[in-house]
Amino acid sequence: MDTQITNLLEKQVKRRRTFAIISHPDAGKTTLTEKLLLYGGAIHLAGAVRAKGTQRNTTSDWMEIEKQRGISISTSVLQFEYNGYVINLLDTPGHKDFSEDTYRTLMAADAAVMLIDGAKGVEPQTRKLFEVCRMRGIPIFTFINKMDRPSREPLDLLEDLEKVLGIRSCPMTWPIGSGDRFRGVYDRQSKEIMFFHADASAAKGKKLEAKMTGVDDPEFLKSLAGTRNDEYEAKELYDQFKSELELLEMAGDDFDWDRVLRGELTPVFFGSAANNFGVERFLNRFIELAPMPAPRLDSHKTVNAEVDPITPKFTAFVFKIQANMDPSHRDRVAFIRVCSGKFERNMMVKHARLDKDIKLAMPVSFFGQERVVVEEAWPGDVIGLVDTSSTLRIGDTLTAIKGLEYSGVPSFSPEHFAGVIILDPMKRKQLQKGLEQLSEEGVVQIYRQRGFGDKDPVLGAVGALQFEVLQHRLRTEYAVEVRIEKLPYAHARWVVGENLDPDFFERREDSRCLLDRDDLPVLLFRSDWALRWATENYKNLQFLTTAPRKKT
Ligand code: G4P
Repeated sequence: MDTQITNLLEKQVKRRRTFAIISHPDAGKTTLTEKLLLYGGAIHLAGAVRAKGTQRNTTSDWMEIEKQRGISISTSVLQFEYNGYVINLLDTPGHKDFSEDTYRTLMAADAAVMLIDGAKGVEPQTRKLFEVCRMRGIPIFTFINKMDRPSREPLDLLEDLEKVLGIRSCPMTWPIGSGDRFRGVYDRQSKEIMFFHADASAAKGKKLEAKMTGVDDPEFLKSLAGTRNDEYEAKELYDQFKSELELLEMAGDDFDWDRVLRGELTPVFFGSAANNFGVERFLNRFIELAPMPAPRLDSHKTVNAEVDPITPKFTAFVFKIQANMDPSHRDRVAFIRVCSGKFERNMMVKHARLDKDIKLAMPVSFFGQERVVVEEAWPGDVIGLVDTSSTLRIGDTLTAIKGLEYSGVPSFSPEHFAGVIILDPMKRKQLQKGLEQLSEEGVVQIYRQRGFGDKDPVLGAVGALQFEVLQHRLRTEYAVEVRIEKLPYAHARWVVGENLDPDFFERREDSRCLLDRDDLPVLLFRSDWALRWATENYKNLQFLTTAPRKKT
């Protein structure tokens, strides 16, 4: 029986790829997601991503709700099959702000696709998300987008990856020109050229067939002349392409799968998502190179240090909570990532933090507004559990293995802070409930002032727009009107170490000492300078950007 289930698990695990796309707003994440779904034949799901063109009518309700709530009612995961693989594309929130939710999603991914706008290079949000991937040590694949627009020199872009992010790169494809001189990309492995045709039908979502040839094909130089038939331009593009290629062969990093898996080397692809160009090639190489669901660390180390996904017993952890997904039901959904074993509806598992058995009776997956009951799932998959009684928290472990607990999902250091002022003091209870639930979702973090109990908390957020989302959701979901007063702090650090004197930091003009929800001390600093001063003068203390794990 065990061998049978192990064989089944092995088969299912091997064909799964679970990843997230990280990017700065406007780099083209929604567009790329739509194209990827298209290859999976899941275009009917595209409404879950964004209403586009003719699809707009069918998805307008969805858009309206999303707009009104001011947040993305996230589908959390888009699952599709492609070439025998099951792809779980973890959806990070769609709106332009940055939230903790985005960070947490990366905790459930086995790989990340870093999407970069070729005209802009590495941008701030990409950098922040990259840091989280690096902390987790997951492999990162890079797609440089919008090559149909004038872009920066490709070698410059690679230098950006190294200088700003500190990661070496290995181009798998290489572009020939950009903007209106964009002729296509060269596949360094197959040594084929894919010619670019700006094709209106591609933007509508049809698969684009590319014409292939080789660099030494006499037709190659000729074809670089483009629609203007400019021989001079063709020669220029050809010479530049050849010299760049030579430079890459001589001085570039060789492809090394182990370094990719360790997150030290990123394979780079070029293309144009809007034109569906370079996407198919990218997807094919990605599924071949990206890792299958990886073993996860058991923090109690009761079983093994790591739990292999093909372990027959089910384990999973909660990486995201979303309250009031359906405002008419006031429900709460906990999203879990399956780490090992097979998930079956109605199975009984141990809730590790509460040391209590629970039945997983209401597993669902979401396609836009639609809910589908999930009967079974495998390692790497993500499912939503309807959790009306609020028994699940982010980081919780659900397990059929006795004594196992995963190391949880850290809280990330906010960069924006505010106080919250209630306009109708009679509604204090609702406010408290709203703050509690919305902070569990990661909309904001809540810090208590020492000696104040739950009164007048300080709110922290990784993106400033989160305060507006909070205000909006308190009004619409909890009927509480509040005013948000921004506070002049720029950094928060969890502090670990002997002899922390909270009063000292409280007395200083440029810092505060608060408590997080687990009563761990958190210092707020007004400026980079104040933070630096503290770290240099208190070498006995550790200043952490993620919350240390709570002792249980
Ligand atoms: P995001 O989710 O990362 O924020 O980006 P999104 O896909 O919404 O893309 C942002 C803008 O960039 C969109 O234009 C989109 O069409 C465009 N874009 C994406 N990929 C490419 C590409 O390969 N080439 C070019 N030229 N543009 C690209 P928009 O004007 O904001 O929206 P829309 O009117 O096109 O829908």
